[in-house]
Order: sequence, then structure tokens, then C-alpha cells
Amino acid sequence: MIKREKIKDLLNSTAFNTEVTVMGWVRTFRNNQFIALNDGSCMGNIQIVVDFANTNEDLLKRITTGAAIAVKGILVESLGKGQKVDIKANSIEILGDSNAEEYPLQPKKHSLEFLREKAHLRFRTNTFNAVFKVRHALAYAIHQFYNERGFVYMHTPVITASDAEGAGEMFKVTTLDFDKTPRTDDGKVDFSADFFGRATNLTVSGQLEGELAAMAFGQIYTFGPTFRAENSNTTRHLAEFWMIEPEIAFADLENNMQLAEDMMKYVISYALENCKDELAFLNERLLDEEKTKPQQERSELSLIEKLNFCLENEFQRLTYTEAIQILKHSKPNQKKQFKYLIDEWGADLQSEHERYLVEKHFKKPVILTDYPKDIKSFYMRMNDDGKTVAAMDILFPGIGEMIGGSQREERMDMLTKRMEEMNIPQEELWWYLDTRRFGSAPHAGFGLGFERLVLFVTGMTNIRDVIAFPRFPKSAEF
Ligand code: 4AD
Ligand code: MG
Repeated sequence: MIKREKIKDLLNSTAFNTEVTVMGWVRTFRNNQFIALNDGSCMGNIQIVVDFANTNEDLLKRITTGAAIAVKGILVESLGKGQKVDIKANSIEILGDSNAEEYPLQPKKHSLEFLREKAHLRFRTNTFNAVFKVRHALAYAIHQFYNERGFVYMHTPVITASDAEGAGEMFKVTTLDFDKTPRTDDGKVDFSADFFGRATNLTVSGQLEGELAAMAFGQIYTFGPTFRAENSNTTRHLAEFWMIEPEIAFADLENNMQLAEDMMKYVISYALENCKDELAFLNERLLDEEKTKPQQERSELSLIEKLNFCLENEFQRLTYTEAIQILKHSKPNQKKQFKYLIDEWGADLQSEHERYLVEKHFKKPVILTDYPKDIKSFYMRMNDDGKTVAAMDILFPGIGEMIGGSQREERMDMLTKRMEEMNIPQEELWWYLDTRRFGSAPHAGFGLGFERLVLFVTGMTNIRDVIAFPRFPKSAEF
């Protein structure tokens, strides 16, 4: 069995003059004497002091950036500035060579664009070490939050025959041979010959199945991958992203908003508490990045201030109708600076409008409710006005839509009427409709885009930098 100490523990250790073994990847090797070694346990490196006069020259040559090495040595108090401990190497073993000429990560600052092309290696940088540690902590915090509240974690199917959002932007799943697709008599693709005997796709949301479980357990959540074939080449969209979808029975929109706000505050505060080093690093990274921007584009708050601000303030709640009034009379609308001008009730809000409300007008997270029925999904509960539905979107500064959810239509007649109006075939969703037939009850839920949460908490600007191997139009590498 291999035994080694983690660099994270050693950097905080005072057990000087003891023998330790560390294994990691060389970040730099200076003057044939000082190795900066990183093992991923933290962003920091440990300094290995090499007695080069007594070390084989061939071995020294193989200590190159990117190489994996094992070092046995004595932990000593560091004489150098910037670190508390060093390891005086007694023996060094090369576990895996790395040709310095070919290794893509040079000991210098690389751009995020460059690192995106090298996504298989970018975990080895401080920035991505920090981002993925925060991502991990947030995932853990989400499970902890729901577990503490007695929610049941449901795994909903990845392959499905239904289109939960009715938006039609799905990836098809098939085993049919494209070169000789079987056809029915009227020339359509014959899916009866397909693996499942019908057309299927990758799920866009686990909500509909989640609702079934909520109507038995009372409160459930899903946390899994979802897929959208929308051709959005933006810094906030992925074709494959992870979504958290809680669903609660005996609940209305108010309960839903409260749950969402509690959850957001819980996980952000978990990250602040448990990712201090990572967030301090990302805070500095963002300050540096902001310095390159013109003054008026820089944010007023640092990353950590922004996270604390979210914890300390209630999310602003208002209806779609109120938001339209604000937008209509806003400067960018009057001066025709919006790409999509707001002139009448019923318009769908674009990200420029959402960001205006959050970043310029309220300057804090906003919960928008009661949207026009025509711009929302079939399952949302009709309000008494017959025009709006009990929907909610939670908008965050720098992100726009973070959460989308609603109270669900629990009344069978209202639901089937909406499905008819929106051309959603009832035969295909017979199982969904059964919950309204047998013991229907008020219930509500929402979906949180996990990468958008990670984006917000890490202060990164492109969603492709907070998921390990991003999927987006024309890109499915790795
Ligand atoms: O608003 P959406 O489409 O809502 C649903 O899917 C509902 N079924 C959720 C529910 O009520 N259970 O998506 C929910 C969230 C969005 O607010 C956004 O944060 C994220 O998922 N999202 C995306 N994230 C990254 N890339 C994309 N292409 C995304 N599309 C949605
Ligand atoms: Mg939405």
C-alpha cells in the first residue's frame, strides 16, 4: 500500500524534523534546488529543497514542470519568505516524466480561453483547483440542506419519452441506423424498430417525474444532468448542465419562494465558511480581472462582499406586471438602449431586462412572480385573473436567471385545458395526469441551474469554466 502525506496537512503542520512522504506534480523547479510541488489537496504548493550537489544529474533533469514525483524527506521550518515549511529531500523518485517542451501548462499565467482548449489539464492550475473545490462544496451543501429538512433524493431518468418543458429543444436518443432508417407506410421514421419502440430523448428536466414522487413522499429533490439542444452560444448556457429540482407537496408559491431563498443562503454561507482559501484566491483573481475594465464597468462589491450581501438581504419580490412598469419607464428603454424594447405587457423578458432589474434597479437578487401564461410552461398553476400563472424566476446579479419554478396546476380540468391549448398530447402524459386523478394536492417546485450557482459563487464569468468538460454548440471534446 502506498503511504503519503497530503500537502494541505503539511503546510499547516508544526511536526518539524519528522520524515514525511509527499507525491504530486511539479509546478516549478528553480536553480536545480527548489521544487514547488502540488498534489491537488489545496491550491498551495510545498517547497522541496533539493541537495543538488549530491543528487544524480539525470534525475535532476527529469524534475520538470508537470512531472509526477514522490519525495521522501524531513519537514523543516522554512527559511524562505512566503512559506512556513519546507521538505528537505532525502530521496526523489520520478513517477511519471513530463516533457517540458511539450507540456502545455508553462509556469506562467495562461488565459482562460487557452485553458479551455486544455480542459484535460486545467485542473492542475490554481484557478481551476479553487473553482472545482467550490463546486464540490456547493454540491455537498445542497445535499446537506435537503437532508436536514427531510427531503428524499430522487434519481429521475436521463432517457425519457416526454418533453418536460414543452420547449422542444431536445437531443434524440436512438439505436436506429441513420443510413437506412425504417419508414412507415406514410414515409415517417418507424420508431417501433427502435430500441425502446418509440421516439426518446435526453431529459430537459426531472420535474414531471419529481412531481410523481412528491405526491407520495411529500418533499423530494433531484440533482442530475439535464440536456438542452438550444443553440445558445452564451456565457450562461450549456447543452449539458446539472439541475437541482425540489418538489414539495401541500405548498404554494410562497412556500416555494421561501425554500429557494433559504437554500441559496444556506449553500452560499456553507461555501463562505468551508472554502475560505479558495474564495480568498478567487476574490483576488476577480479584483485583478476588474482592473483591466473601464471604471464604470467594474462592480462595486468584491466577490466576497457580494456573497455576504446576498446573505444579509432579503430577495426583492415583485410581480412580472410590476417589473414591466419599471422596465417601461427605465432609462435604457426610453433611450432605446435595450436591444428588445419593452412596450407592452406580455413581452418575454430578455437577459438585458433581467440584469437591469437586478444590477441597476434593485441591486440585489430578485424574485419575479406571476408571469403571463403564454410565455410559461403548461404545468404552471393558473391565477384567478386567468391571464397569469403562479410562476417564479429568481434573478441574480451578473447571472440573470438562476432559478425557474412555479406552483403546479393541481386541478385536472385546468391542466388538461392548458395542455390542449398548447398542443401537448395527453395520451403521452397519462401517468402525470394520474396524480391529478388520484389524490391531487397543491404542490410547487423549482429548478436551480447548478453551474449558474457555481458561476455566481466563484465569480467566474463564463459557464464553460465551472463545469469540467463543457458541452456547447460544435464542442463535445474530452
Ligand atoms: O427555467 P428552467 O427551464 O426550468 C425547468 O426546467 C423547470 N422544469 C424547473 C422546475 O420547476 N423544476 O430551468 C431551470 C434553471 C434555470 O433557471 C437556469 O438556472 C438553468 O436551469 N438552465 C440552464 N443552465 C445552463 N445552461 C442552460 N442551457 C440552461 N437552461 C436552464
Ligand atoms: Mg426558466
